Amino acid sequence: MSENQYDLAIIGAGPGGYHAAIRAAQYGAKVALIEKDKLGGTCLNRGCIPTKALYASAHLIEKIREADEFGVKISDYKLSFSKAVERKNQVVQELVDGIGALERSWKNDIYNGFGKIIGGDTEVGFEISIEGEENTTIKVKRVIIATGSYPALIPAFNIDHERILTSDDILDPNFKTVPERLMIIGAGVIGCEFANIFASFGSRVTMLEYLSSPIATEEPMIVKVLQKKFQSNGIEIHTSQNVLSVENTGKGVKATTCSADVPRDQIESAETQLFEADLCLVSIGRAKESKNIGLEELGIKSERGAIKVNPDTLETSVSGIYAIGDVTGGIMLAHVAYHEADVSVANCLASIGGFPAEKTKTDYTVVPATIFTSPNIGSVGYRRKVAKNLGFDVLMGQFPYQSLSKAKCMGEEEGFIMVLADKTTHKILGASCIGAEASELIAEIALAMQHGLTIHDITETIHSHPTISELVLEGCEAVVGKSIHKKGRPIHH
Ligand code: NAI
Repeated sequence: MSENQYDLAIIGAGPGGYHAAIRAAQYGAKVALIEKDKLGGTCLNRGCIPTKALYASAHLIEKIREADEFGVKISDYKLSFSKAVERKNQVVQELVDGIGALERSWKNDIYNGFGKIIGGDTEVGFEISIEGEENTTIKVKRVIIATGSYPALIPAFNIDHERILTSDDILDPNFKTVPERLMIIGAGVIGCEFANIFASFGSRVTMLEYLSSPIATEEPMIVKVLQKKFQSNGIEIHTSQNVLSVENTGKGVKATTCSADVPRDQIESAETQLFEADLCLVSIGRAKESKNIGLEELGIKSERGAIKVNPDTLETSVSGIYAIGDVTGGIMLAHVAYHEADVSVANCLASIGGFPAEKTKTDYTVVPATIFTSPNIGSVGYRRKVAKNLGFDVLMGQFPYQSLSKAKCMGEEEGFIMVLADKTTHKILGASCIGAEASELIAEIALAMQHGLTIHDITETIHSHPTISELVLEGCEAVVGKSIHKKGRPIHH
């Protein structure tokens, strides 16, 4: 194969793209990975990773505040936000460099530039132009589009990247301000994670949410615990708010809202409310990044930017071109993009032939989700209401952190796990957890669900003591009323 010819080109080196490139190389394919910005995409540069690095600083502050209770006197502490940002930037840089090193170890060619599919088909191969410092064109047998997403921008919100910001702005390596008052529009995953971080850093946070609940996709009982914690941290959540406008006043920001219940044609005469702050973060979802990459020219079907794919194979409407991750408008999670990378690479290489790859299908039955607030939230499988609506006879077990010895030792007594199981088979249908390490705990339930296990498969597995993982064990025992560390009633025969 000549220098500019490849088995596979991947446009976009976010979690989906960089993962696909390495996986393809592991099958023995010659791979071109095209990225217009930095390796790692949103997750690594402007999303999951920098947020978690800041979260680590925020969490440390929370622990310091509790130090007295643990017998540790810390008379004074001070946040250096610029140091926290520096640390965050370094974490990101090291991981970005790490991905470059991994790709190079697999001999994948990295092209820095904007990739566009300019023609071709599966018979003759596709041509991709790359515009960057050096413009070039490559020829490839198959293409995977993994161009991701960007923060949704609503004109009425006047996002000026000065005072009215997106998560990209707040996570910019040069953002060094902790506002005294932070307004957050959208109390979804991004909004709640930033509210938590900035409240720990000392900001007074006000959230404006359109729906009647924050993170409305989670179990209501879990959301209640978070709301209570947010309240105790001084975070105000105003739900059912229709944000009509946001303005940069020069000295701060001003948002005007009316009740979300007001019908559209009555908004003009509706009673309005005014909210003021120093900065505003708009986190109301994400738009798909698919402009100018050749969709129209090739006839690749899309809807409002989301590239349409066969949900099983991830092939687009054009044979030989696949799409994965956020750009498809599916579940916007890095780990879902990883899964789609594996599936699309196997299908691409199986269709070329000559690689040890077999056609395969996506499987979204078990997708764990985590929200990095304090306390953490982890969930997987069905929510209770959904399981009931689907006709399952649902058994539910709950177990609180306060009854767990390790949690008590750690001073992490807030929260609980709830486990759902099918009444007849006792197979696990889902679980939600809020509390210490909830984001880690949910992995055990995910594994069990992926393999169709029952609550007994978990309860019969010895869990080491004392650990937080015992919460999963006791939660499963609670489904059948057999949790040891929960008060019970004797059975009389
Ligand atoms: P989201 O969909 O989670 O939340 C957006 C929120 O904004 C919703 O509650 C929605 O009702 C509200 N909203 C929408 N329009 C509004 C308006 N005009 N006025 C007021 N509220 C409005 O989206 P978000 O938080 O932007 O996150 C984007 C994606 O990134 C999500 O798919 C999320 O799952 C993912 N993500 C995942 C993380 C994780 O796994 N820990 C962390 C951060 C983001």
